[in-house]
Amino acid sequence: MNYLDKSVQVIKEFQDESGAYIASPNFSQYKYYWFRDGAFIADAMNSVGEKESASRFFEWGLNVILKNKEKIERIISKKLEDIVLEDFLPTRYRKDGSSDTGKWTDEQTDGYGIFLWAFERFLNGEMNEKEKSGVEYITGYLQKVWKLPCYDVWEESSDDIHTSTLLSIAAGLRAAEKLLERKTGWESVVKFIKENHTENNRLIKSSGNYGVDGSLIWCISPFELFTSESDLIRNTCERIYKDLCIGGGVKRYLEDSYFGGGSWILLSCYLGKYYKDIGDHEKSEFIMNWVEKNFDENGYLAEQIPQDLLKPEFYKPWVEKWGKIASPLLWSHAAYIYFKKS
Ligand code: BGC
Repeated sequence: MNYLDKSVQVIKEFQDESGAYIASPNFSQYKYYWFRDGAFIADAMNSVGEKESASRFFEWGLNVILKNKEKIERIISKKLEDIVLEDFLPTRYRKDGSSDTGKWTDEQTDGYGIFLWAFERFLNGEMNEKEKSGVEYITGYLQKVWKLPCYDVWEESSDDIHTSTLLSIAAGLRAAEKLLERKTGWESVVKFIKENHTENNRLIKSSGNYGVDGSLIWCISPFELFTSESDLIRNTCERIYKDLCIGGGVKRYLEDSYFGGGSWILLSCYLGKYYKDIGDHEKSEFIMNWVEKNFDENGYLAEQIPQDLLKPEFYKPWVEKWGKIASPLLWSHAAYIYFKKS
């Protein structure tokens, strides 16, 4: 099987007519549409020349943003100290752009940053009026809320400020600076990360947890907010490898109990891509072999593989609650494309 072609095919097959990418078609809680997953998927599709697919996703996203413009105007006009979680934009959408806020840990800001990052990589030429307006709204929103606590990329811990959320926002505001040809303050976000989200010259998970998290890899792969020569990046990546990579599969973080805390395909792909880029072929191939071994008989990649579980006692209760681990997870396929392709 050609896994690259298969991954493109899986994503195409499950892209909705609206342009939105479903997170996973076979898992009750993920039959929804996320900006985070969607933007990473659109970027992967763009990288393999599937422009039409990517373009339809961005169109969907811009429509959702413009539909939410009063909500965005409201939060922007509020004093920072008066903003509450309910003021944030949602995360888990339906394909028609509506959401059932209140039923999910929905207040997460990273996806909007990732959307801007991916959109700038996609765009070729000038933005039209609608695109400009959508980008302005997202930029204004992120400039307002970036320093506030909210749920993280794993949809947990709303009391903290999360490093990978800040990384996503910095990448998004840097992209917006190019798109809008004006300063957006992304460098202040990076400065804030360096001053407040590091310990012993490596990135930490969040303001409330000085441990390591697999999503910290986004500092370089794919966002390239720092150079791979910087000690901060080297130390962060080595720590992810040492603490979280078991047999080629990467954990989210050491205390993870979701489905027992298995190994995540997409995190492995981002870490593997970092090693590929710095020329550490031994590690990158070790990880690639693990990822490719985990395509199932249908050519699907799951969200996580239940091996070397961190908290095995939690595996069964999650399966009983929500069913088998999500597969295919379109974001896993997108991360594979990113790792394999470039
Ligand atoms: C993950 C999110 C992801 C969602 C849909 C959740 O389990 O924590 O990062 O966006 O699944 O794939």
